[in-house]
Amino acid sequence: MLSAVKGFADLFPPESTRFTAMETAARRIFSRYGYAELRLPLVEYTELFRRSIGEETDVVQKEMYSFTDRKDRSLTLRPEATAGVMRACACALPGREGLTKLFTFGPMFRYERPQKGRMRQFHQINCECLGADSPRADAEVILMLMDFLREIGITGLSPHLNSLGCPTCRPAYRTGLSEYLRSLDPAALCEDCRRRLEKNPLRVLDCKLPGCREHTEAAPRIADHCCDACRMHFTTVRTLLADARLDVELDHRLVRGLDYYTRTTFEVVSGAIGAQAAVAGGGRYDGLLKSLGGQDMPGIGFACGMERLSLLMAEPEAARPDFFVVSVVEETENAAFALTRDLRARSLSGDMAHTGGSFKSRMRQAGKSSARFCCVLGPDELAAGEVVVKNMDSGVQERVARADVPARLLST
Ligand code: HAM
Repeated sequence: MLSAVKGFADLFPPESTRFTAMETAARRIFSRYGYAELRLPLVEYTELFRRSIGEETDVVQKEMYSFTDRKDRSLTLRPEATAGVMRACACALPGREGLTKLFTFGPMFRYERPQKGRMRQFHQINCECLGADSPRADAEVILMLMDFLREIGITGLSPHLNSLGCPTCRPAYRTGLSEYLRSLDPAALCEDCRRRLEKNPLRVLDCKLPGCREHTEAAPRIADHCCDACRMHFTTVRTLLADARLDVELDHRLVRGLDYYTRTTFEVVSGAIGAQAAVAGGGRYDGLLKSLGGQDMPGIGFACGMERLSLLMAEPEAARPDFFVVSVVEETENAAFALTRDLRARSLSGDMAHTGGSFKSRMRQAGKSSARFCCVLGPDELAAGEVVVKNMDSGVQERVARADVPARLLST
């Protein structure tokens, strides 16, 4: 028996219906803020992710699906969208001034251990705002994310916020943090954190293991070591969010798993979906485009995990078809098919029984379809140029002239 690859899921209704609802709501909300859709390739040169996400990150070290093509070039299935957006903008918009606001949807690929809310192929809704270094852009992006989450009916979420400083202030903080972590008993930290300590000490702060958290509670906090410009930026973001009545939790451990962030970082966390609790994450990445050879352009954005949002969304209301056509005997099948075509041409939704079987079993199919009306066509009706139209809620049925059936269904 063929099976799907581990960590790669098929999405049937109602999950696929929830995904469509998310995308529709995202388009509605983001266009209000001036965003346009970008469709990106799923595959990029591996180099792009190494240089943007960072050589020492878990994503680049352990999680990428990389392969060589027939010309021996290393390609990678995208593990996230921001790097691709930057590459696309560097290619397509060189020298562009002003704001570029883009959203993109689609699958991402990371070789992680699958569990609830964590897949190897997962889907993101991703937004990037390029060209603004103002703290108002940070506040706008976060408020837009919260508008979107509200629009899809998800409440009870906590936005977490931090500032990671900038190339002016972060190196000194990093050195101070490394010194603090080295002063600890090495046994105090888990094996992963001992490795992170050498390569990426900030990541020690977001280790989820209680032992590591306890020993890093007194570690220096970046917010206390930011330069004046970063501190003022962060204070303004917080003020704007407070003015908009958004409660955020300051979280000094929020360092994110991707290396490109500067200043504001944020995550939205749910208490209702288990260990993989972050439904969205993002932040500012002012040096990223330049570091990839593009222009010096600030940027900020986020991505939502659609599988995780889907866990929190209510069951979508099933759309009710307008009709179900039942032919009484084999001889009236083609006439039933023509009626079905005509009704769909009048924008009515519905189906007919294609599967043969007895008249009784077709009527059962009509009931199961939850259609509002059942249209029955037998030899008598065909001869008289009529159709029996049965209201499936009231049970009342009437004979209607064939030509009047669409109008009859549209009038109720
Ligand atoms: P990220 O935090 O790596 O950020 O991913 C964003 C969201 O994608 C997570 O909060 C989570 O909901 C979802 N996600 C990540 N990995 C998985 C997985 N294996 N299975 C299911 N869901 C997952 C980024 O990707 C950045 N590019 C976000 C960004 C955009 N920053 C600036 N602009």
